[in-house]
Amino acid sequence: MTVKITPLARYFAAEVKGVNLTEPVAEYDFAEVADAFETHSILVFRNQPLDDEQQVAFSRRFGPLEITVNSNPGGAGTEVTVLSNLDRDGSVIPPEDRRMVFNTGNQMWHTDSSFKPVPATASLLSARRVPPQGGETEFATMRAAYDALEADRRAELDELVCVHDFAYSRGLIDPNLLRARDKSEVPPVRHPLVRSNPANGRRNLFTGAHASYVDGMPLAEGRRLIGELTAHATRPEFVYRHEWLEGDLVMWDNRCALHRGRPWDAGHARVMHRTTIAGVGPTL
Ligand code: OGA
Ligand code: MN
Repeated sequence: MTVKITPLARYFAAEVKGVNLTEPVAEYDFAEVADAFETHSILVFRNQPLDDEQQVAFSRRFGPLEITVNSNPGGAGTEVTVLSNLDRDGSVIPPEDRRMVFNTGNQMWHTDSSFKPVPATASLLSARRVPPQGGETEFATMRAAYDALEADRRAELDELVCVHDFAYSRGLIDPNLLRARDKSEVPPVRHPLVRSNPANGRRNLFTGAHASYVDGMPLAEGRRLIGELTAHATRPEFVYRHEWLEGDLVMWDNRCALHRGRPWDAGHARVMHRTTIAGVGPTL
């Protein structure tokens, strides 16, 4: 056994050492990694200079991948989402460019694809170019946040359903960002406010930027509740902040963790490639 798992924060997140993701990972090592993922929610692998093919090959071991239409250059539908501020000619795209504004949505606490009927299980982000400062990614555990609530509060929340809506979350950045046609492609969807992990039964809140309102509750009241729970889940003790080095691969559990990108000096290149493991079925 070569795999070594070292916790990085109080409640979640761990570094995985002893695996080389540029080569096929042996089945018994992979089983340990998959197990650690269910337990720790966020896995950090350092020194993994992956190309897209290697990233896709490792990611597929966890299940089928989502196909994403990139907002960035190069982008037909693909298994690899490129988060990059580099234009085709290698120059840095100015932050006011529509493509960059669209990506600032990643700087709000969110969970990937929660606006889809079947939200993603996991995302794997590979750092190809990182700025000298800033551009960190923060993660928050909605599991520990749920556990920290009083039992009667948890019981109340267990019954609630949220409506997640991509047009709502992108509208928070700029109401004109999505055209009517784009909106009709991502109709609002319903997910429980509390989810449980199928492998270990651990329960967690499920909120984030796409969560627009609570089903059956007045709009303002539901929004206030969602905001309050997201604020609770992102208190410092529930957060792991990842400072990227080139060659890092970080994998996170979208079912039970929030994440957000942090800003950086927009004159510097930041290039991250993401693969996304599709979810397995409806949440309700
Ligand atoms: C993502 C994301 C944040 C970042 O890739 O899903 O939200 O720091 N990224 O790039
Ligand atoms: Mn994201």
